[in-house]
Amino acid sequence: MLRVILAAMNRTRLMRPVATATIVVIASIAVISCKKKEEKVEEPQAVVEEAVALPPAPYEFPKMKIPKDNPPHILKALLGAQLFFDPRLSVDGTRSCYSCHQNEHGNGGETPLAVGAKEKQLTRHSPVIWNIGYFDRFYWDGRADSLEAQAKGAWGGGNMGVGAENLEKKTEELSKIKAYKDGFDKVFPEEGMTPDTIAKTIAAYERMSFTCDNTAYDRFAKGDEAALTDQQKQGWAIFMGKGQCVVCHAPPLFSSAMGVPDGVYYNVGIGTDGVAEEDVDIGRAAVTKQDADWAAFKVPSLRNVSKSAPYFHDGSVPTLEGAVRLMASGGIDNKNKSSLLADRGLDDEEIGALVAFLGALDCRRSLHRPELPK
Ligand code: HEC
Ligand code: HEC
Repeated sequence: MLRVILAAMNRTRLMRPVATATIVVIASIAVISCKKKEEKVEEPQAVVEEAVALPPAPYEFPKMKIPKDNPPHILKALLGAQLFFDPRLSVDGTRSCYSCHQNEHGNGGETPLAVGAKEKQLTRHSPVIWNIGYFDRFYWDGRADSLEAQAKGAWGGGNMGVGAENLEKKTEELSKIKAYKDGFDKVFPEEGMTPDTIAKTIAAYERMSFTCDNTAYDRFAKGDEAALTDQQKQGWAIFMGKGQCVVCHAPPLFSSAMGVPDGVYYNVGIGTDGVAEEDVDIGRAAVTKQDADWAAFKVPSLRNVSKSAPYFHDGSVPTLEGAVRLMASGGIDNKNKSSLLADRGLDDEEIGALVAFLGALDCRRSLHRPELPK
């Protein structure tokens, strides 16, 4: 049969991919049948090994997608770092990006709901932004499709209170700071300092500096068995197995949204109880207008989660143990709850192990405040 396929391959180039695929299939059938025979002989040992083996732990991050019109550049990222920390971006000089994404709070928010410039009460909790460059969609509902758009949204919207229509005026004000003006003229010789180039520097800074890939988990995944405690290893096995957390929080970034162009959103019930239906934050459905997305939110990455209390899009759960218990017991019932979430019947010891494991995702890095130009 192989000879027939090879002859066909020679006859026409078009046939080649099909023929190659056939060979691969034949080859793998051969391997499978060998394996089956081996397994039959050594069955008892294979079962014992499976019982003690921990699930494989991936650590290779996907390749970061970088927009063609905003290539990485060190001076650009430095300007972005200064602007990220500069409260002069906000309407009243009280909020920088960093105000709501601080090291002390795992680079998420401190209060359950964020409070913007002019003390404006916002409706959601500030999420952890480590590894944000690996996502394709931003915000709890995925309404922004680039970090550049997200930065302009935060700056023009309620977070910093400038107003989308006033970004030009604010930029003029900021360009009076000589070091900024000179820096932008150097990095963007054609455009100089504009709302778009400001957003580009901030996004470039986020892509270059917000990678958290040297956690205890990563060291364990690369083969350092001692990087996790026994309790954390038990938690890892529950995360991947009995707890079924992996279904939505896939490693190595612990969000299944990673690399999925539209992001991944589920209704786990947060914010649906004790509120009249018309007052529920409908999350992703506001973007897609689909009933299936009612009160569905982005699956957050769990890296640095132990430091980022309180939890969920509304900051409604104050402790990590509370958040884990809620997820492991099936979330909060409502008319649209995801069927992927169910009570996993974990006991206190197993919950404790899960919480301990999540501590292995702590970032060892933190953001450094650069000196701001006068
Ligand atoms: C007043 C607090 C506040 C300020 C100031 C603020 N943010 Fe945020 N940030 C939030 C909140 C709240 C959300 C989630 C909002 C939502 O989902 O609707 C968020 C979301 C984000 C996200 C998306 C995270 C994700 O998981 O998709 C990024 C990135 C981000 N902010 C970066 C910034 C940058 C850059 C700035 C400055 C230009 C900034 N933030 C200013 C509170 C703030
Ligand atoms: C059906 C998908 C799904 C499954 C399964 C799932 N999660 Fe989640 N998880 C989510 C979503 C979606 C959110 C955000 C919900 C929100 O804020 O409205 C979330 C949020 C969290 C948070 C809060 C993170 C933060 O930054 O606020 C923790 C902690 C968490 N999950 C842990 C777990 C654990 C532990 C398990 C397994 C027992 C698990 N999850 C199973 C989808 C899932």
